[in-house]
Amino acid sequence: MKRHLISATDLTRDDAVLILDTAEELARVADRPIKKLPTLRGRTVVNLFFEDSTRTRISFEAAAKRLSADVINFSAKGSSVSKGESLKDTALTLEAMGADAVVIRHHDSGAPHRLATSGWIGGCVVNAGDGTHEHPTQALLDAFTLRRRLSAGGAGRGGDLAGRRITIVGDILHSRVARSGVQLFTTLGAEVTVVAPPTLMPIGVERWPCAVDYQLDAVLPKSDAVMMLRVQRERMNAAYFPTEREYARRYGLDGARMARMPEHAIVMHPGPMNRGMEITAEVADSPRCTAVEQVAGGVSVRMAVLYLLLGGAEPAVTTRTAETRTAEEGA
Ligand code: NCD
Repeated sequence: MKRHLISATDLTRDDAVLILDTAEELARVADRPIKKLPTLRGRTVVNLFFEDSTRTRISFEAAAKRLSADVINFSAKGSSVSKGESLKDTALTLEAMGADAVVIRHHDSGAPHRLATSGWIGGCVVNAGDGTHEHPTQALLDAFTLRRRLSAGGAGRGGDLAGRRITIVGDILHSRVARSGVQLFTTLGAEVTVVAPPTLMPIGVERWPCAVDYQLDAVLPKSDAVMMLRVQRERMNAAYFPTEREYARRYGLDGARMARMPEHAIVMHPGPMNRGMEITAEVADSPRCTAVEQVAGGVSVRMAVLYLLLGGAEPAVTTRTAETRTAEEGA
């Protein structure tokens, strides 16, 4: 595996399967009364968030803490960044504090790459979403849920997504989730289709390793999973569709549309959801929607990524240590 995780293309099929298998092992920790492992004790993980986040930030924090790392949370709001401090000076400060890993979310595409290649910091860099570019750990946690839900027999372990048909719908233009998802799911053997109104389809999409369609209704019956994306108004400076109602009518997923999907097919959403826009409350709250399950898987997947990048000397889990056993018995 590479030293940094910047793009889903950094991962070979074997890397991705290793992360997913490790995440499965680590997920078992979540079922224990004491959810902590000593694996990254003494290591420092900095969460560097220049853009708003709920799920991703909390999930990286929970992941690092469950592995016993020291966690420093930095958010641009309320820091010297609002006084004009540059990424470089912020990075040098983190380096002075001895960060072993920096998890970065930034509004500029390319910021994590800059951090990883600048020499400003010595630790490994994990991209937690950069502009409209990539969000590789989101793709990994989505693959984790896909594998659990769609693997033959539902065993939840081993293998890849070979032959699974995954449809990603909505604001593809502004979506780092779509960019990372298309790459990773393809690496894992899935057949991916992206669906959007022509105005929300990126230029050059024909060079992506996926099929492109503009008619949602035509693709639904041929999908094992349908991932609905949020319409990212904060990244829009023009009118990309006539009205919200018109968007929902053509590209939103409601109960009637969901009924066109095969019985086993699931509905995914990375969150945050715009209920009533790309997804109705009926679909969001239905048992076929895996949004909450995706969040839970996110903690295990991020534990696996941190563990593998920081090269924990001990095995990730396998057996309970004497220490956790004592702690659990005392609990
Ligand atoms: C996504 C993001 O921030 O890119 N959300 C997430 O990480 N769970 C998608 C979005 O904001 O719509």
